[in-house]
Amino acid sequence: RPRSRILGTGSYAPARVLHNTDLEKIVDTSDSWISERTGIRRRHVAAEGELTSDMAAAAGRSALDAAGLSAADLDMIIVGTISGDTPMPSCAVYVQQKLGAQEIPAFDISAACAGFVYGLTIADQFIANGVARHVLVIGVELLSRILNWKDRTTCVLFGDGAGAVVLGPASGDGRGIISTRIFSDGMLANSLVIPGGGTAEPLTAEGIEQSRNKVHMVGQDIFKVAVKNLSSASLIALDTAGMAAADLDWVVAHQANLRIISQVAARLNLPLERFVLNIEEYGNTSSASIPIALDEAVRDGRIKPGQNVLFCALGAGISWGASVIRM
Ligand code: ACO
Repeated sequence: RPRSRILGTGSYAPARVLHNTDLEKIVDTSDSWISERTGIRRRHVAAEGELTSDMAAAAGRSALDAAGLSAADLDMIIVGTISGDTPMPSCAVYVQQKLGAQEIPAFDISAACAGFVYGLTIADQFIANGVARHVLVIGVELLSRILNWKDRTTCVLFGDGAGAVVLGPASGDGRGIISTRIFSDGMLANSLVIPGGGTAEPLTAEGIEQSRNKVHMVGQDIFKVAVKNLSSASLIALDTAGMAAADLDWVVAHQANLRIISQVAARLNLPLERFVLNIEEYGNTSSASIPIALDEAVRDGRIKPGQNVLFCALGAGISWGASVIRM
């Protein structure tokens, strides 16, 4: 029986767009390699001076509007991000400041691409136990500033943006989060990592020169485990919800690679038409990818109230998760 439900969705993407052909001028790549291997054609990139918290606050305002609520109604702000404005304090407190929210708990979740599903799961707990009534959950990334623009194996994959939902108590009509499950496996921690800039490897001039403060990824390691774990987490979340994949109206999967999504669809025995896809437009926006795709599909009427929707995401950590929601 759902304990919390999505009251409103919102999203924000920077106006500046980089096409695959623009990247051909920066690194040794091609539009055809990127689109055939990943499904990405464009990505949005933040303007100079635009901050992670600016994008997050914009998505948050939009979700609050959609829910018919204001910042004063919020009891908690949770931000999934690995690219916040500063290492300290959290991105969430800057969002709190920008929204003009009260003295409420505001904190970040570091679960990379799974950050939104992690945030949703945590918010659901706080609403279920009655500690919070309205929780703003945001996924936001400004990855363009932490990519090595000389590394073609990563810089072509990612984009910037933010997505948000406002969660509130379920009203007993069956709509809401039916199940939500999160997982991590630290054995693959070094397959997707920003090695420098933390306490393990404080930044030096040499480290900056070697882009140790930028994203490093062994793509194939992540690809294989992504297909396997996204499928298994989805089946576990469905099982917990007492549902089968065939009961789903929509799947909003993390948009990292169209080939990963296609293989997950095959394992769930679902047609690709059942998946909300926007990787072509945004690339991989990490924790923002599910709430951006969700917001687009809610606003254009694809996802309708009462429909069954599955979220699933996997990213650095590796951390992953899946949620079953009746919208
Ligand atoms: N343009 C042209 N060629 C390229 C590019 C590029 N941008 N990047 C790599 N290549 C080359 C490689 O050098 C390699 O060349 P070689 O055969 O001469 O050695 C060839 O293309 C194939 O490279 P692969 O790495 O084998 O390509 P693959 O098909 O595995 O695709 C990709 C790479 C897209 C990264 C894929 O592995 C993937 O999507 N991995 C998962 C990413 C993911 O899900 N990340 C998790 C979320 S992100 C987060 O948590 C922040």
